[in-house]
Amino acid sequence: MSALSQTPPGCIERILFDAQAIAARLDAMAAEITAFYEGKPLTVLALLNGSLPFAADLLRRIPLPLQLECLRVASYHGGTESCGAVTFLQNELPDVAGRHLLILDDILDTGRTLHAVRQRLLAEARPLSIRVAVLLRKTKPRVESLEVDYAGFDIGDEFVVGYGLDYQGHYRNLPMVGVLKTALNRVG
Ligand code: IMP
Ligand code: MG
Repeated sequence: MSALSQTPPGCIERILFDAQAIAARLDAMAAEITAFYEGKPLTVLALLNGSLPFAADLLRRIPLPLQLECLRVASYHGGTESCGAVTFLQNELPDVAGRHLLILDDILDTGRTLHAVRQRLLAEARPLSIRVAVLLRKTKPRVESLEVDYAGFDIGDEFVVGYGLDYQGHYRNLPMVGVLKTALNRVG
């Protein structure tokens, strides 16, 4: 990575993981996931919008005959604190009967989103199994107890943006993950 591209963008106070660190971690996660699902019918469910870069980069490292589905959910509604309600922005669930399901999300924060998605899929879609992979996991008490099976990085309870994570819809396209400047954080 060039020296120039390591300069944080104006919105970022501190870079936590640059593109190189993310790529290296995804290599290891993908190897672990590939070993586990080898020989099993696998459907990957990417939660949109946040997991899009994570899912795209992770899946290209998994050389298995998997199927990809997406589910649009929202929980933050623009601020930096979870408001509690998880909204399914689409009603239809993927057909995963007879298949193992791996859910991908950008970050595990309160646990509400993944808990709600997991419960609904278990009850209504009934896959053979459900596992969860997140790029980031905040080390804090969860509102909903939920263990993920694969976590890229553990971080503190800070609001981060980049690589899929947004603040009011912005910064998802940054190639790195960083802590959002506090001044910006207070605007919304
Ligand atoms: P949870 O339901 O509280 O676990 O939050 C999950 C969702 O909240 C994620 O999929 C993100 O969209 C959003 N979120 C939680 N923490 C952050 C953060 O630090 N930055 C950006 N989005 C976040
Ligand atoms: Mg979000």
